Amino acid sequence: MPLVRLERISKRFDLGEVPVPALSDVSFELDAGSSVAIIGPSGSGKSTLLGILGCLDTPTSGSYRLAGEEVGGISPAELADLRCRRFGFVFQNFNLLPRLTALENVELPLAYARQAPTMRRAKAAEMLDRVGLSNRMSHYPSQLSGGQQQRVAIARALVNQPELILADEPTGALDTTTGHEILSLLNGANSDGTTVIVVTHDPKVAANMRRTISLSDGRIAGDTNRDLSAGRLPLLPAAVL
Ligand SMILES: Nc1ncnc2c1ncn2[C@@H]1O[C@H](COP(=O)(O)OP(=O)(O)OP(=O)(O)O)[C@@H](O)[C@H]1O
Ligand SMILES: [Mg+2]
Repeated sequence: MPLVRLERISKRFDLGEVPVPALSDVSFELDAGSSVAIIGPSGSGKSTLLGILGCLDTPTSGSYRLAGEEVGGISPAELADLRCRRFGFVFQNFNLLPRLTALENVELPLAYARQAPTMRRAKAAEMLDRVGLSNRMSHYPSQLSGGQQQRVAIARALVNQPELILADEPTGALDTTTGHEILSLLNGANSDGTTVIVVTHDPKVAANMRRTISLSDGRIAGDTNRDLSAGRLPLLPAAVL
């Protein structure tokens, strides 16, 4: 059974008199453990698709099965629960909570999952250590560089051991070297078995994913696989980040 199965997913936004079709008849399947780049021009529907995949938004029509279960039939409360159990999210602008320290930000998904404070503190600290930030745990987001903030965001996305990481332009606000560090963390998560879906404008990021789905005007315009055995970025040990 595929982890994700989209069948003729469409999304229309009805704002004024003219409805905007953001996605039209999008169908594809993803197996657990895959890595996928979603590319396409601005406005082609990439973030809309990621929002639907992450159960942050619902399609106007079509079917989305996650591990065999029809997402459209799940109640809002169960959906919230499913989001925090199965998904980790990473955004272009990091989206950390400014009044929480790095450690507290990483603890959040565990708090939502109702884990005991000592346990969550330990897990969050271990995850920050893995992304090379053991010396920044008590810093607030405003006291961290962009790359450091994104590493905190990745630690937060991974701390609950999600099946899927969904990232929208995770390197878009970072310089090349820092973007490379973030990419190798995502590659590392994928090597550990996490399914990674990344929206990106950057061909280098796409070249690190096994599959690339391109969108144009809300439709799938291309779907290609690549052999990564030779070309993936080397994994950087957290210590050198
Ligand atoms: N909440 C919304 N209300 C109305 N229209 C929307 C909404 N969100 C997206 N759209 C429209 O849907 C289309 C797809 O938007 P989307 O944000 O998915 O594009 P994108 O591919 O992520 O673009 P970018 O690369 O600029 O981030 C656009 O025409 C956009 O204007
Ligand atoms: Mg977008």
